Amino acid sequence: MYREEKASGEAALPSIDSIPRATHDEAARQKYVAFLRKFVMADLAQDMRAIYDKAIEPTFRAKNGESPEDARAVRKAMEPNTFYRTWSSLRYNAQEMTWSSVQGEVERALPDLIDAADQAAGQSPAGGTLRLNPDLPIPKAVSALDIHLMPGCFHTEYLEEDVAVGAVYAHGTKVFSGALKMSKNPGKGGVADSIGHYLKLKYPNFKPKRILDLGCTIGSNLLPFHRAFPDAELYGVDVGAPVLRYGHARAESQGIAAHYSQQNAESMDFEDGMFDLVVSSFFFHEIAVPSTKKILKEVNRVLAPGGVTIHMELPPSKAMDPYYNFFLDWDAYHNHEPHYAAFRQQDPVGLMTEAGFSAESSSLIRIPDRGGLSDEDFAAFARGESEAPQHSNFSSYYLFGAGK
Ligand SMILES: C[S@@+](CC[C@H](N)C(=O)[O-])C[C@H]1O[C@@H](n2cnc3c(N)ncnc32)[C@H](O)[C@@H]1O
Repeated sequence: MYREEKASGEAALPSIDSIPRATHDEAARQKYVAFLRKFVMADLAQDMRAIYDKAIEPTFRAKNGESPEDARAVRKAMEPNTFYRTWSSLRYNAQEMTWSSVQGEVERALPDLIDAADQAAGQSPAGGTLRLNPDLPIPKAVSALDIHLMPGCFHTEYLEEDVAVGAVYAHGTKVFSGALKMSKNPGKGGVADSIGHYLKLKYPNFKPKRILDLGCTIGSNLLPFHRAFPDAELYGVDVGAPVLRYGHARAESQGIAAHYSQQNAESMDFEDGMFDLVVSSFFFHEIAVPSTKKILKEVNRVLAPGGVTIHMELPPSKAMDPYYNFFLDWDAYHNHEPHYAAFRQQDPVGLMTEAGFSAESSSLIRIPDRGGLSDEDFAAFARGESEAPQHSNFSSYYLFGAGK
């Protein structure tokens, strides 16, 4: 049993993130997978683009009198190519190994992880809450297949009070982006930190009292809002109980009060106008477009007048060239993310107006990752003095949203 004792004898909450301990070999494997992903997603990806530009696109043009018009046409032209096929296999295997490289340490630590989450749920010393609903139907988008090849997806419970998939997500995502996200501004960066500080710089009078994160998983992009807005109450909803248990314990051990609840974002039990800021990250591309539309209407309901809603997502296909659309949409075919390409075909501003927001208050923007710039350069961006880097491997984020 993993319990730390405070001087008073009262049990202190362990950091749930640090309970699993990788062996030497596991740590080496995780490093290997992280750098394999960088090799595939940055180095080989660049070479593959050069092969397309120098050979595949000119051959296609010579034969058809025009360049491939969209991602599907590029895909058809690329599929017979040996470099692409090898790259695709490597990428698939690196994705699978991302999760399997952390499963061993999570499995060994599982009793202690469950115990830590249970302790956090019983004590909540930071003042957060955890509301679970065992009767909540898990939407098909989550239950039908293991999204991005993560075994058990976000909701599976192998044991009572399970947190395993939360722990696999926490540790696996570090492997996933570990070698790709090289921060030039240590301790800063990531989606929520970048959005929070952008809002603070751009709209100094905007001081949200309550912030809601949809599809929060373990709260990776909820808790960093505490840095930008320390007085705001934080709320997160998700359909997966194990990720919420894990997220709650994580927040409590960090001393951040966050209120997690197991709810379908299509229909939440929050009062009208309860939130000043409603956010999501990496969420809508994993669910079906009709569900996205219902959720955005629900966002409009729970948002207070004067509030803001911002969603970090993949760039819409209209903003990118056919090759980059083919490159991004790989996940729809090979990474168990079947809604990915259909979401990217939506017009983000159109989605907001359909949900009842005005066209004037809706927009799509791109901001830099705060970890990739100095504070001065990030502030200059917020003042409109520079552009965000092009979209690639976490250097910038596309955001769509609206004010109410
Ligand atoms: C890729 S994850 C989001 C990652 C997370 N926002 C982050 O930044 O780490 C998508 C999450 O949405 C949740 N989800 C999917 N459909 C949902 C719905 N209808 N309502 C609430 N949560 C949902 C999934 O369980 C999963 O945890």
